[in-house]
Amino acid sequence: MKNQQSNQDRVLIFDTTLRDGEQSPGATMTLKHKLEISRQLDDMGVDIIEAGFPNASPGDFEAVHEVASVVKNAVVCGLARAVISDVDRAGEALKNAYRPRIHTFIATSPIHMKHKLKMRSDEVLDAIEATVKRARKFTDNVQWSPEDGTRSDHDFLCRAVETALKAGATTINIPDTVGYRIPTECADLIRMLRERVPGIGKAVISTHCHNDLGMAVANSLAAVKAGARQIECTINGLGERAGNAALEEVVMAMQVRQDVLPFTNRINSTKLTHVSRLVSEATQFPVQYNKAIVGKNAFAHEAGIHQDGMIKNAGTYEIMRPEDVGLAKTSLIMGKHSGRAALREKLTELGYTIGDNRLNAVFAKYKILADKKREVFEDDMIALMQSTATDESNDYLKLQSLSVTCGTLETSVARIKLMAGDIEHEVRADGDGPLDAAFSAIKQVFPHHARLVRYQVNAVTEGTDAQATASIRLSENDHIVVGQASDTDTITASVLAYVNALNNLAIRRQKKCPQSAEYTEDIEPSGSLRAV
Ligand code: KIV
Ligand code: ZN
Repeated sequence: MKNQQSNQDRVLIFDTTLRDGEQSPGATMTLKHKLEISRQLDDMGVDIIEAGFPNASPGDFEAVHEVASVVKNAVVCGLARAVISDVDRAGEALKNAYRPRIHTFIATSPIHMKHKLKMRSDEVLDAIEATVKRARKFTDNVQWSPEDGTRSDHDFLCRAVETALKAGATTINIPDTVGYRIPTECADLIRMLRERVPGIGKAVISTHCHNDLGMAVANSLAAVKAGARQIECTINGLGERAGNAALEEVVMAMQVRQDVLPFTNRINSTKLTHVSRLVSEATQFPVQYNKAIVGKNAFAHEAGIHQDGMIKNAGTYEIMRPEDVGLAKTSLIMGKHSGRAALREKLTELGYTIGDNRLNAVFAKYKILADKKREVFEDDMIALMQSTATDESNDYLKLQSLSVTCGTLETSVARIKLMAGDIEHEVRADGDGPLDAAFSAIKQVFPHHARLVRYQVNAVTEGTDAQATASIRLSENDHIVVGQASDTDTITASVLAYVNALNNLAIRRQKKCPQSAEYTEDIEPSGSLRAV
């Protein structure tokens, strides 16, 4: 009886960081990062990992295929529009998955059907039936979603859900695609479907909420209270536009507020901080300082009155313990003389498990940093891990040396030695400030038309000797590439970040990898990933 009860209260956590999360403009992740994220999500207890949209591009296909091969416990899911070729491609990509799921969707709201799909409602129903049936040929685990479901006509939505169920869908996911609804409306919609759609009791009802009005988490939890038993979410709330419901927030809300949210899930919450950092590193999207659960300030207390309360009893200002989300106070102090073993130990404390090659690369940089800085803080170690995340040995451009003169009295001049493939170039340029000069010099070696669309520098810790982390975002022909680097010298960090972005641009040019904006428009008329 107890088991039956807990099964009914069990909420499945469906992570779509690698699919909807990656649809955030500029959040493209490398295959290596996707595999690492999948392993960590699996290890953390995520039930379903949506690994990508296989028919979107060869890169997406490969990612889903590879993720399916490494994930040991979770269901691995691939997305498909209501197009037979999409479903077939998803089935193919998932063929090595231990537990495959195909997720097929089509828009059901009047505005999407009329203007985007240009399909009548009977055509939409036919497409649902055909594609869900097709998906069932590959797996008996089929999820179907009515895109823009929360703005769909109720009668039509019920017919569409019933059609999907009859065709063999086992999970019905209701997306609030444009993040329009408020919690009571989300709950009412789930209740309406449970009351009106025959056979819905046999399927799992899922919720997929976007955060355009900042209500994605509240909407997801309201849907669960009304009977949904799967939440679709992303790490750090990544996703289209304002993002999706943040996994760490829904999980901790259920953990902290068991009194009003008496549901269970399989997530090991002590892994949340580490996975959050990993996703931030992979996407180069910084986590907002005051972000709930995983923001740098989420457990920081500055006001004297708060600090006083905390010393007397942490419960005065903390509703959860930092260690519950993996922010345990660590013990090892790192210094100039610390060796490889201590470094490995420290990184393990911070949640990083690394092999010998990576350890050597991090250690080399650690030694240089420890020589320059009085104290090496945990945030410095995290920045170090992020700046050694990519294997630089295959980079086309490698900065050999940099020298800049600048100031109020003279024009800035940069002199740079740069390897491009096997050839060393020595270039010089002047410019409007040191970066303008340095970037112009590099452009002589690697000509391009990319626009600098974002340049950001953050001090990793306090003090004038703090490391700076620079992130650069370039856009060429609507393709976004990013670069990141850290150094105690801000100009050096910025130039290294620029070189890193150009190396990513070189890879993108080679692959000519299409971005979502291109592939969503070419297969008509059955669907698109972008709301119009
Ligand atoms: O937001 C949305 O509607 C989606 C669907 C593909 C589920 O992401
Ligand atoms: Zn979505």
